[in-house]
Amino acid sequence: MHENKEIDESKQGEALMIESPAAKGGKKLFLESYGCAMNFSDSEIVASILKDQGFSTTQDFFEADVIFVNTCAIREGAEQRVRKRLTEYRKAKKTNPDLIIGVLGCMAERLKSQFLEEEKLVDIVVGPDAYRSLPQLIETAETGQKAVNVLLSKEETYADIAPVRLGSNGVTAFISITRGCDNMCAFCVVPFTRGRERSRDPETIVNEAKDLFEKGYREVTLLGQNVDSYLWTGGGLKKENPTAQELSEATTFAQLMEKVALINPDLRVRFSTSHPKDMSDEVLHIIAKYDNICSYVHLPVQSGNSRILEMMNRGYTREWYLNRIAAIRTIIPDAAISMDIITGFCSETEEEHRDTLSLMEEVKYHFGYMFAYSERPKTLAERTYKDDVPEEIKKRRLQEIVDLQVKHSAERTKEGVGKVFRVLVEGVSKKSAEELYGRNSQNTVVVFPKKNYKKGDYVNVLVDNCTGGTLIGNAVD
Ligand code: 5AD
Ligand code: SF4
Repeated sequence: MHENKEIDESKQGEALMIESPAAKGGKKLFLESYGCAMNFSDSEIVASILKDQGFSTTQDFFEADVIFVNTCAIREGAEQRVRKRLTEYRKAKKTNPDLIIGVLGCMAERLKSQFLEEEKLVDIVVGPDAYRSLPQLIETAETGQKAVNVLLSKEETYADIAPVRLGSNGVTAFISITRGCDNMCAFCVVPFTRGRERSRDPETIVNEAKDLFEKGYREVTLLGQNVDSYLWTGGGLKKENPTAQELSEATTFAQLMEKVALINPDLRVRFSTSHPKDMSDEVLHIIAKYDNICSYVHLPVQSGNSRILEMMNRGYTREWYLNRIAAIRTIIPDAAISMDIITGFCSETEEEHRDTLSLMEEVKYHFGYMFAYSERPKTLAERTYKDDVPEEIKKRRLQEIVDLQVKHSAERTKEGVGKVFRVLVEGVSKKSAEELYGRNSQNTVVVFPKKNYKKGDYVNVLVDNCTGGTLIGNAVD
């Protein structure tokens, strides 16, 4: 999935710690993750597998026996960042020649054993579907050999592995509901690095959410590249042509969300990412029906121009997308909507760029994640189109899009002033120990004086002020 969603910049590459470490004396793991929420969620699977092997985590890679970096390949820049990080690990390998360095995730899958040739200090290369083999791979690496497993699977969902929560606030958690992607957007490397789409058994999803709730968590985010195509027909891999009987027994995304929402009204449900071509009214009605399903839809548009959307193989037009926006507004009137946009895709003209700006004006998104197009190896776009928009034009168009979004975000935030929101407290504000922060249903951060409230509480906050992206107020009874 998506490099951006829900994972803020401060968490990128932060040492991920298991809170209740295994027995002392075990080996030490330094684990860090880049990219999207799915990667952070996968790191919790990795931690779970290694904890069972007696590993504990460390924040200092100089004292680690194993360094694992979970990587992202979505844009060239994401890969450069990992390469840079590897040069820092080199120092640790100098002081500890037995140190094992492993590269996990999308970049590992994309480059496979080529990685070992390009980066001599790497010992292990492992793709997102091969984490169960980590113990064997470590064993191999301990004998001084290089170890690679980049097999992709049509079934693996790690459904039976209870993730170890990492760097958690104890209130919010991610749950993967699908893996892989079958959409083949022309610009996107994900179908190559994460393989075929498969849905996870709904029972294991509901049980994981229940377990989190019992441990004090109050919000789960259901994760998938395209949550709307979630479909459990018993076997995992989505059946191409299900029979009427199979369909009647299947669990859809709407039904899955309902099951999770019914666990407890105090368990909030979020989800990411929705796909405009697949997001149904049925899903929107379920969101509207349950107060604990958040009024927030992340609906990447990528471009406001139908010719570009066609080239991108997105499966919808500008008109279709705007019809989905209208459906959200009608069915969930208080919803916040956010987007992803790619600017400077192959052959994009100035007029087509202005279509993206005008679509933004029509929707006026609450938030946005905006990128300049970056050509990725093996993708349809790389094979069939020319990356012909000059860098400085991409940069200028991106700036125009970002400037407009900053303006819209500020306007949307301001609309919250004077209103009361139910806020789930996530922790103490970074700016002041006397203040708490949390989010409202629409996913906007709300800050207010602490009084006797604490993490995990739901607090009604009357907002009387704001900054560009944060609401400020006071608790009301
Ligand atoms: N170049 C730029 N942005 C990209 N994205 C995906 N692939 C590329 C690419 N090759 C963006 C899309 C996607 C988000 C996660 O990253 O907007 O929704
Ligand atoms: Fe990539 Fe498109 Fe799949 Fe999202 S839906 S992961 S952009 S191929």
